Amino acid sequence: MPRVTVARPTGFCFGVERAIRMAKEGKRQFGAVHTYGELVHNPLVLEELEAAGISAVRHPGAARGGALVIRAHGCPPDVLARCRKSDIRIIDATCPYVRKVQNVARRLREQGFVVVVVGERDHPEVQGILGHCAGAGRVFTPGLRVRADRIGVVAQTTISPTHFREAVAKLSLFRYTELRAFDTTCQEVTARQEAAARIARKAELVIVVGGRNSANTSRLAEIARNAGKDILHVERASELPRRRLARAGSIGVVAGSSTPAWVVREVATAARNPCKEERLQ
Ligand code: F3S
Repeated sequence: MPRVTVARPTGFCFGVERAIRMAKEGKRQFGAVHTYGELVHNPLVLEELEAAGISAVRHPGAARGGALVIRAHGCPPDVLARCRKSDIRIIDATCPYVRKVQNVARRLREQGFVVVVVGERDHPEVQGILGHCAGAGRVFTPGLRVRADRIGVVAQTTISPTHFREAVAKLSLFRYTELRAFDTTCQEVTARQEAAARIARKAELVIVVGGRNSANTSRLAEIARNAGKDILHVERASELPRRRLARAGSIGVVAGSSTPAWVVREVATAARNPCKEERLQ
């Protein structure tokens, strides 16, 4: 039987748990509730929300009546302003840590800095932060040279602090008159990335549990892969290849911050008893 270690912390992070709770409370209070984009990047959670009558819309205008939830990633301020002008109620579930990045970016902009965001250009959190920069925001790329004397640098919450420091070091080469850097990475994400690295050093096989479109889950997979380990990225226990598990001596289980704790438990149980599960199928 394989030796299975589950990385801690696991289950929803504070911001995801809060957003789901706010959406469910909104449903009880207002009847109809939509979310602006998928509330979390996890298909099982989305199925559960759909069953509870909470579904995603791609545009705020598509939500009719009731309330619209702004997810933990946040959104640009003009979207919020448009929503507030319509008859729809807003439940702003922007994670407080993401809100902090938006506030830092906005203050830097007000003080005349060009803001550089270290993160993924197309990620909704980054788009939201850029929206707070009133057109004076850039997304970091290696070699980016901003035409300004003063730049302020912030991080998408889910990147690694190491990646942020490397980006700041690269920007520093251009000798701006003033460069202010704010490490706005989320400690919850950092703790999971460190745990994934620790587990990947010891385990023969690493199971990464979480949505395939979840940025923070994919990052955990990348960390384990970079440690030279075999990885299995699954969204639910039924996807596990039982024979492969039975051959492994030690297995590490890591999960993204939008993966429910019950899914992690199911995966760990299946990993501990691969033969038993196979007989059941
Ligand atoms: Fe917030 Fe960190 Fe989760 S920024 S949404 S607590 S990953």
